[in-house]
Amino acid sequence: MRGIPLAILFIGVLIAQSKGDREDPGRDDFYYDTFPEDFLWGFATSAYQIEGGWDSDGKGESIWDNLVHTNPGSVKDLGNGDVACDSYNKYKEDVQLLKEAGIFCSYSWATDNYDRATSNYLCHHTVIKAHALAYRLYDEEFRAQQNGQVGITINSDWAEPADRNNASDVEASHRLLQFRFGLFAYPLYAGEYHPTVRQLMDAKSIREGRSESRLPSFSEEWSKIIKGANDFLGLNHYTSSIVTAQAGSYPGVDHDADVGQRKDPSWPKGSVAWLYEVPWGLRRLLKWIGMEYGNVPLYVTENGFADWYSDGPNDPERTNYYRTYINEMLKATKIDGVNLKGYAAWSLIDNFEWNEGYTVRFGTHYINFRDPNLPRVAKDSGKLLAEIFRNNGFPSP
Ligand SMILES: *[C@@H]1O[C@H](CO)[C@@H](O)[C@H](O)[C@H]1NC(C)=O
Repeated sequence: MRGIPLAILFIGVLIAQSKGDREDPGRDDFYYDTFPEDFLWGFATSAYQIEGGWDSDGKGESIWDNLVHTNPGSVKDLGNGDVACDSYNKYKEDVQLLKEAGIFCSYSWATDNYDRATSNYLCHHTVIKAHALAYRLYDEEFRAQQNGQVGITINSDWAEPADRNNASDVEASHRLLQFRFGLFAYPLYAGEYHPTVRQLMDAKSIREGRSESRLPSFSEEWSKIIKGANDFLGLNHYTSSIVTAQAGSYPGVDHDADVGQRKDPSWPKGSVAWLYEVPWGLRRLLKWIGMEYGNVPLYVTENGFADWYSDGPNDPERTNYYRTYINEMLKATKIDGVNLKGYAAWSLIDNFEWNEGYTVRFGTHYINFRDPNLPRVAKDSGKLLAEIFRNNGFPSP
């Protein structure tokens, strides 16, 4: 009789493994373990998207205040951030939510919005310089007393080669990652743009008949300021794409990096067009960053999902998203040896989602925006995160 349960178990394993892909059959297997003891857990939020109080306390007008007041039609449901989640008045309640989730670290972006579709190299260039100046200022005036860390956070998808046995697809994946993550991170370690990015951009600019490269250069002086001006790397990550080597469509990063991108129709789709659930993409991206940047300390600073069946506290899609993405992050940490130090979920509460207004939700706490009191109610995903944070991962059942 002893042999029978074993045989059944074996079949169970085969079925579980058939979910992975052919070259990596165990890809989607669940992994039980915990994160290092000093791992940090938190939530990310952004000021404009939750605070409200847009003209309180003598606060000046932001570019978003101006946009929604002068051109309300630019937001899908004509919503705006004038009140949003009213965290300006309800911040104590929000701090209580954090306490209930058992975390001690949270932060809020003052301005964190850029157009995902367009790449503006001059803007990137200026951000790198500004970051480096802030880093140097911290070095000179505050580090000795405060002993803090200054790092940059970069939004990047994973780029999965269409065929991992095809060298040109694999190269296309690396190229796109250098144009995405590497565009900010590489100069902060090397003092200049990645050679692949430099060559492609210069060659394309000449072909376009320009007298200067569309990618600016750092002077020798600036190169010294930016090189080494970073203590850790932050990653905002939500999704992945499949990449091939081809002449990508102009204008945009696909054209500049000579890649074509698509989504796999089998990937579960979120309620915003760009967001597909690809948990293993996070593991592969973390591993890539760890290898490229010599095991520099890493933080996942945003990660989350916009679901379809969302007007209430039950959110099975988001719950599955967090469970699998955090599990892949655990594999990156424990199996691949990536130096991951912390994780922040996007986001604590449903909020004003820029041009989508209040039509999509990313929160782990539900807000009924039709109720003037804007009550916060923990979603299933919020309860799951509290459990993962408390257990510091997924201890063996
Ligand atoms: C590799 O992929 C490229 C497109 O990305 C294709 O043109 C080429 O034929 C492929 N090579 C092989 C050997 O399949």
